[in-house]
Amino acid sequence: MPEWTAPVVSEMLGDRIARFRAGDVVPFPGYVEPPRATGPLPPHWSASPRFARVGSCGVARLWLEPDIDLYGTGMVAGPLRRNGTSIRLDNFDAWGYAAASRKLYQSHPWVLGVRRDGSAFGMLFETTRRATISLRRSVTCIAMGPAPAVVVIERAHPMEVVEALATLTGCAPMPPRWALGYHQCRYSYMTAERVLEVGREFRARRIPCDGLWMDIDHMSGFRCFTFDHERFPDPRGLHHALHEMGFHAVTMVDPGIKVDHRYGVYRSGRAGGHFLRTPHEPPGEVHVRVWPGQCALPDFLNSRVREWWSEQCRELTSVGADGVWNDMNEPAAFDAGPRKTISDDIPHRADADLGGPGDHGRYHNVYGMQMARATSEGLARLRPNRRVFVLTRANFLGGQRYAACWTGDNTSNWSHLAMSIPMVLNLGLSGQPMVGPDIGGFSENATPELFARWMGIGALLPFARGHSEKDTKDHEPWSFGAACEATCRRALERRMRLLPYLYGVARESAMTGRPIARPVFMADSTDASLRGIEDAFLLGGDLLVRANVSEPSANGQGSMPEHGRPVPVLASWRDLRLESEDDEVLPRLAIRPGAIVPIAPIMQHTGEHPVKPLTLLVNLDARHEARGSYYEDDGETLDFRQGQYRLTTFEAAGDERGGVVVRIESVEGTWPPHAHLIQVDCVNPGTRSVRVETIDVSGQRPRAS
Ligand code: GLC
Repeated sequence: MPEWTAPVVSEMLGDRIARFRAGDVVPFPGYVEPPRATGPLPPHWSASPRFARVGSCGVARLWLEPDIDLYGTGMVAGPLRRNGTSIRLDNFDAWGYAAASRKLYQSHPWVLGVRRDGSAFGMLFETTRRATISLRRSVTCIAMGPAPAVVVIERAHPMEVVEALATLTGCAPMPPRWALGYHQCRYSYMTAERVLEVGREFRARRIPCDGLWMDIDHMSGFRCFTFDHERFPDPRGLHHALHEMGFHAVTMVDPGIKVDHRYGVYRSGRAGGHFLRTPHEPPGEVHVRVWPGQCALPDFLNSRVREWWSEQCRELTSVGADGVWNDMNEPAAFDAGPRKTISDDIPHRADADLGGPGDHGRYHNVYGMQMARATSEGLARLRPNRRVFVLTRANFLGGQRYAACWTGDNTSNWSHLAMSIPMVLNLGLSGQPMVGPDIGGFSENATPELFARWMGIGALLPFARGHSEKDTKDHEPWSFGAACEATCRRALERRMRLLPYLYGVARESAMTGRPIARPVFMADSTDASLRGIEDAFLLGGDLLVRANVSEPSANGQGSMPEHGRPVPVLASWRDLRLESEDDEVLPRLAIRPGAIVPIAPIMQHTGEHPVKPLTLLVNLDARHEARGSYYEDDGETLDFRQGQYRLTTFEAAGDERGGVVVRIESVEGTWPPHAHLIQVDCVNPGTRSVRVETIDVSGQRPRAS
């Protein structure tokens, strides 16, 4: 091993952010804009990275002080706390992954460290190449090619580090409101009639649902941007019917374009020279086997190709598709050996600002992100002023700007249920707030117990979608008997009741980069006992979710295990019941002292708006005060950017006699108020006998009820 070389501090990036490098800095497509040189090195930043070359790899290493808890590194299976683990950054079609799997679908060269005293730092390794990050006494990134430059961020609290990451890599955009509802998917609903039938079933059974998804079988012979003439004869009519029932529809497209000279998308891609070409003789397109058979792959690193792809999306928007799902974009190839992808020597005609022409080895990890970008830019262009919703499987640090994500092809078992929480949390700490697992598990068959438990938890994660693989049993909420169906209904009713709060948290995330679902330690970063908790999480800043992820013991029939371990430091948070009937299967909720959380009545989908009445859940703190806000806008356009929104901030105060007064503290934005009736529900004990006041949001004064 060669000696570690002295680091070169190449640029200073402002207060408490510094960038170190050993060699030339290559463009890094994860950034919104490259960091600028502005300020001094953090005064108490003692660890400087060391750089070295080992064979064809570059190494960047930072030695750590003891007692630092490590998180982040994006999409990772296994525990929340990453100390002692190592991961491969090598976007991979990871069907059947398990807790020990070291490489999954996405790459985030980013580590968050939390010290004993609650202060925190971030480390970003500037490489798009295949790399290993190992988190032990040192944090070491070994990347193919040059040693990555390292950006370090130093802050007083881990949330501030995550916010600083967002200043570099961007925030996820404000989602359309419907994207926060529940989504139902399957590989695949095989006919238009079946899609409608599933939709009708949701409405007839009064189980809330917003999105119905069409997996690859809606296509004609798996040709992207087409619909099968027999099974989906009238896509426009189908979308219209779904919209009439209050659903939104999401359609899949993969990067693999079937090699078929009678297929327009292939013909135009070929004519435009948009597909990847082999570096070998004889020259020609790279062809790989995916679902449709032999496929060509667009070179998404090139802006002309992305523009061409954006235009193809018209086939979907013109029939009324609301969102687009990008899958298999690592890119996956079935006939490519264990790495399941194309070879590293294939050239990309990458744009200059992405790094210029280079081989696939350099761009493999950002291929999926650039596909998501092309899709998202296409939707934005085709439907100006409408918010975009794209879901992507492969992605990279910064890719939250283009698409939400799910945790890939998980399995219907208890270990995957447990993992779905830390996976979502670490992605949130790595810049991606809009994420969730396939609820119920993708491969294999769920049991009623597992499905019900998973729905209870999944309904409280940022992106909530049920999905299951071909040849599995039906996995809709009613497929597992009456008891499971009742739990699913309650779980999704809960999500709908929490929607006003969740929408506000999504907006907070879009403005600040804060995750939607957060590890419990964010509530008190100085309490080391919270650092490893992964069966509980915070939803925004005000709600605590305590889940039970353990398998019921074989003889424990009927007696449900204890719900969620107590979280002592959050003991002052007050238990919250949203249902009139207790459902032992659902996670427990608690509300932060001093919070006001806006909730809605039960709705069947997010389009049942405006919310009437809006209920403000008030939890007075030890000083008998509480504060919170309610965010409203039209839910689907970008008019909020021009001030067409309404952010109402409330404050509550209790008096000695147990009375509670809620006042509007401020109103921001020009969106007209809709919720004329606001109820106040104070959760502090003894409030049953307390005079609760209602207020009229159209006036500025509270009004006693
Ligand atoms: C991949 C996706 C999965 C999808 C399937 C068929 O395995 O990860 O979600 O259902 O392909 O398109």
